[in-house]
Amino acid sequence: MNIKEVKVTEVGPRDGFQSEKTILKTEDKIDIINNLIEAGFPRIEVSSFVSPKAIPQLADAESILSKVNRSSKTTLAALVPNSRGALRAVEAKLDQIVVFLSASESHNKKNVNRSVDESLQGFRDIAEIAGKNNIPIQGDIATAFGCPFEGNISSKKLANISKEYKQMGFKGVTLGDTTGMATPVVVKDAINAIRDNVPDFNITLHFHNTRGVGLANVMTGLNEGITDYESCFGGMGGCPFAPNATGNICSEDLIYLLHEMGIETGIDLDKTIAIAKKVESLVGHKLPGQVMRAGHRLLSYSMDEVPTAVGA
Ligand code: COA
Ligand code: ZN
Repeated sequence: MNIKEVKVTEVGPRDGFQSEKTILKTEDKIDIINNLIEAGFPRIEVSSFVSPKAIPQLADAESILSKVNRSSKTTLAALVPNSRGALRAVEAKLDQIVVFLSASESHNKKNVNRSVDESLQGFRDIAEIAGKNNIPIQGDIATAFGCPFEGNISSKKLANISKEYKQMGFKGVTLGDTTGMATPVVVKDAINAIRDNVPDFNITLHFHNTRGVGLANVMTGLNEGITDYESCFGGMGGCPFAPNATGNICSEDLIYLLHEMGIETGIDLDKTIAIAKKVESLVGHKLPGQVMRAGHRLLSYSMDEVPTAVGA
């Protein structure tokens, strides 16, 4: 592996907050996003321009975009499901539109109430609006590594959707592991299928740690030369329209791993840990992140802080 730099996208304000029962105050979300920009994240998914009936937690996308402290170093991205969402995104001066569909027909129906072909057709209208306004598009594929309703997803299907994305002029494809069904074998297969059929198309990996193999999947991605990953503060996250969907891989844990491997991210780990702790206190329950609790590996303690075993 000869990777020196990785781009980490923080998806917490979208993937994390959409999965919380409590709806956070807009001011608190803005504060967290400002902290993320300050910590050096090159790209943040700040919200979604979806129907507030589908995701009431993200109904304040416009307010957020009008009030955050923008920086030329951070791309602000958000999910857009249809033309209406694209027009809202243009009005809000979003930096990057993220369109999304599920590789599985059944999850796509649950999530956006249409077939995969209908979704792709709708993306052409979004691309037209985005093109006129010079807004780049990233194309997500949810349930890319397995679907809770349909099981395995063929890598050919991922390649075919990616081909359509490339033809529509998208920047790249994000493979989303909505319910944590990815394994190193499945990930490698998906990357190879896309590379073989859609050369020179950027691949981003978005893993959930549902079955504890999130960072192992990242290692597979790194070994295959993938340099773009998405993660969430404290390991929050999950899709409300998929059974047993739990948290994304955790941003602090991922950044810690990358830095320890000598891979640059440009992100301040201490600031990221502080953000995870702040989010934890805002949502009022324990988050699954580990480095936010354990700290750096060379964090040193005074021996007086720890009791000595009886009889030692
Ligand atoms: N922004 C705001 N409101 C929107 C909207 C948008 N982009 N798109 C649709 N709506 C509103 C419509 O006006 C309508 O409201 P009404 O009932 O008051 O008339 C309602 O949402 C339903 O619209 P409709 O066009 O009939 O769509 P639908 O019911 O088939 O839903 C989606 C389709 C895509 C809009 C909806 O399923 C959705 O937003 N899904 C998001 C899923 C998601 O974000 N999942 C997590 C990420 S993986
Ligand atoms: Zn996710």
